[in-house]
Amino acid sequence: MKRIVLSVVLITALALAWSCAASDPQARKLARGKYLVENVGMCADCHSPRNDKGEFDQKRWLQGGQLAFAPVVPIPGWAGTAPWIAGLPNISEAEAVKLLETGTTSTGMAKRPPMPPFKFAHEDAEAVVMYLKSLGSKQS
Ligand code: HEC
Repeated sequence: MKRIVLSVVLITALALAWSCAASDPQARKLARGKYLVENVGMCADCHSPRNDKGEFDQKRWLQGGQLAFAPVVPIPGWAGTAPWIAGLPNISEAEAVKLLETGTTSTGMAKRPPMPPFKFAHEDAEAVVMYLKSLGSKQS
């Protein structure tokens, strides 16, 4: 009997903790940003260095570097490297939201290929930037 009561208390506590976490708007926004980066925008394909097996190097997640591929026909302005975006060390949050929402920076310039000219919804662009910021950065 004691065990059943304990289990019920434990399950209730867990359910409560879970529902609090799920209903926290900031936590939900962060989770959405992570999902958009990892599963929709596939940002790591260009922005994450790989190890010698071709797998993403988790210790250098989104820390930029040389692209693992090149175009088979010449593409003007091709950027051979992708910048470090973990913690967004080189671009302001407002500028990053603008870039992800409109495909251009505040000067009206698009980034060089192969950076896709994303047109995220404003809230999604903010969520992506929130997630990237949360990663912190050692680069200045
Ligand atoms: C196909 C490759 C590719 C993918 C996928 C990609 N990027 Fe990029 N990204 C680049 C390259 C290359 C640049 C540098 C362009 C330049 O130098 O003009 C860049 C630049 C940026 C910049 C500007 C950073 C700075 O410091 O100036 C941001 C921010 C950025 N990318 C975010 C993202 C995010 C977020 C995603 C996923 C939602 C993403 N990128 C997906 C290739 C890519």
